[in-house]
Amino acid sequence: MSDVRVDGSRFRERFESFNEIGATESGGVNRPALSDENREARDTLVEWFEDAGLSVTVDEMGNIFGRREGANPDLAPVLFGSHVDSQYNGGRFDGIVGVLGALEVVETLNDADETTERPLEVVAWSNEEGVRFQPDMLGSGVFCDVFDREYAYSREDKDGNRFGEELERIGYRGEAPCEPRDLHCYFEVHVEQGPFLEQEELPVAAVEGVFGFSWMNVSFEGQANHAGPTPMDMRHDALVGASDVIQAVRRITATGGVDLVGTVGSLDVWPNAINVIPETVELTVDFRSYDDAAVDAAVEQIEAEIAHVAEREGLDYEFEQIMRVDADPFDADCIETVVDAIEERGHDYTRLVSGAGHDANYLNTICPTSMIFVPSVDGISHRESEFTEWEDVLVGTDVLLGAVRRKADEV
Ligand code: GLV
Ligand code: MN
Ligand code: MN
Repeated sequence: MSDVRVDGSRFRERFESFNEIGATESGGVNRPALSDENREARDTLVEWFEDAGLSVTVDEMGNIFGRREGANPDLAPVLFGSHVDSQYNGGRFDGIVGVLGALEVVETLNDADETTERPLEVVAWSNEEGVRFQPDMLGSGVFCDVFDREYAYSREDKDGNRFGEELERIGYRGEAPCEPRDLHCYFEVHVEQGPFLEQEELPVAAVEGVFGFSWMNVSFEGQANHAGPTPMDMRHDALVGASDVIQAVRRITATGGVDLVGTVGSLDVWPNAINVIPETVELTVDFRSYDDAAVDAAVEQIEAEIAHVAEREGLDYEFEQIMRVDADPFDADCIETVVDAIEERGHDYTRLVSGAGHDANYLNTICPTSMIFVPSVDGISHRESEFTEWEDVLVGTDVLLGAVRRKADEV
């Protein structure tokens, strides 16, 4: 293949400028799905897509596509991208690298005046993070027919705002149907978000699959009462129930399988007052593993634990699994395409499985898919200090370019 490479300085300038949107004082970004900052990020992206000559389509879920025509427009396109929504006070790399990297691939091909056989489409998926609206990966989930559109529109944030109404409010409830269509393949470049590449001193990985995971909402209801006069044996303390769940998650992961991880990441306590026994607690549980049986067993165990503590403490409880994604091995041919693109550039590399969820999970159910990972410094992500060396971002993006070019000329 001719030697076409991404332009690091243009990409970097765009990356820095994009990350001024919703920038936080501590060096992160705050652009949760469908917030005003997310709208501004989308507006900027659409403008840049159009500047790069892409024809832009926004679908009913607010997924943004930019299409570059191929020599043969009737062939199924190669799709690549990621997401521009962030965690609350999240990092500058998660998702953005994959979207702006996709745009850089297009700009590089424009500069080289290279027309691929197949059309290319870059994409920014809606609500990948799942932090404001659960579950995560809603945009790609509807696109891949995992959720129906009305279910997605009905999802509410903690203030009772609905996804569909917020999408309308920010002006990104598009016309194009959000449904599966014929795609040649899907690629996504992303930061690893774990420690492995850095520990091994490797700049890049071909991603072979993604952990399965389960998300659960749990609530306990006890009785608020005075913290002073109420004897210990007359209490129905919802927070005691929650604390058992937190400990149980630790215990279950210790014995539940080599790679099983579990997290209680969110806790809402009411009335949350120093001298009142907690009446209600709402919490979340997240279990993940590449072994689906380990995830299912962990879910069963935590549900039993919840029932047990509720009985012991005299609490009512509710338990709901709000999402269950199966472990997802990517397409062998797409993985090898990524490996070929890495080897062409002579990089050392490894093959990894992702502990983080990605839109690529769902894309893999409708078309051949793989991902490219670049190192996360100190394995840190979902935090403002998330960082990846710029040279590594470029390595990953250049590998994306190589993978896209290979697949885009397959006829
Ligand atoms: C998405 O960021 C996830 O893996 O939770
Ligand atoms: Mn991400
Ligand atoms: Mn994320």
